[in-house]
Amino acid sequence: MNLDLFDHPDFHPSWREDLCPGAVVLRGAALADDRELLKAIENIAIQVPFQYRATPGGYAMSVAMTNCGDLGWVTDSRGYRYQSTSPETHRLWPAMPDIFRTLAVHAAEEAGFKDFQPDACLINRYQPGAKMSLHQDKDEEDFGQPIVSISLGLPAVFQFGGMERSDKTQRVNLTHGDIVVWGGPARLRYHGILPLKAGEHPLTGQYRFNLTFRKAV
Ligand code: SIN
Ligand code: FE2
Repeated sequence: MNLDLFDHPDFHPSWREDLCPGAVVLRGAALADDRELLKAIENIAIQVPFQYRATPGGYAMSVAMTNCGDLGWVTDSRGYRYQSTSPETHRLWPAMPDIFRTLAVHAAEEAGFKDFQPDACLINRYQPGAKMSLHQDKDEEDFGQPIVSISLGLPAVFQFGGMERSDKTQRVNLTHGDIVVWGGPARLRYHGILPLKAGEHPLTGQYRFNLTFRKAV
């Protein structure tokens, strides 16, 4: 790990990698804000602790989740959905911190999506072995708005596929501070995360965190 990277001076990504039309990785774009982002995640998790939710089919997910913003993504036997309250606390999700919104909106702009208005931020926490199977993000009302995904902590392998589950996937290493944006023609592409390899990150220990910003309604 090159610690000099933590001194990244401003938002501008160190480099960009196009995955396909509509999808781009902005390498290191969240580095300058990493500590502030992690502090905010900690603060949110104090109010609404991470939960291991079940899929509608009854499988326990290996990724622990919480949310902030007007709406949060949840899953249980009733299905996948967005709701304004936490199923555990029955209270509104914590507000989306300004630093979250600013970074997500800038990243979307950088990727060519003006006027991104995220109202939901799903916070995923991966421990070694945790994975996210290939899926499409399609519980949102307006596919005209992109997805912005910020990676923090341990590195992971992001699978980025096509419009069909069976399409070939690209494997993209996502490391601390990387931001992926996909929208437009790429909005409904299948994607997932391979089982997290064990490791130790100077800021997050044995975890990877992922912030996924969406406009849900
Ligand atoms: C997701 O697709 O919800 C998560 C992606 C990631 O963890 O990078
Ligand atoms: Fe997703």
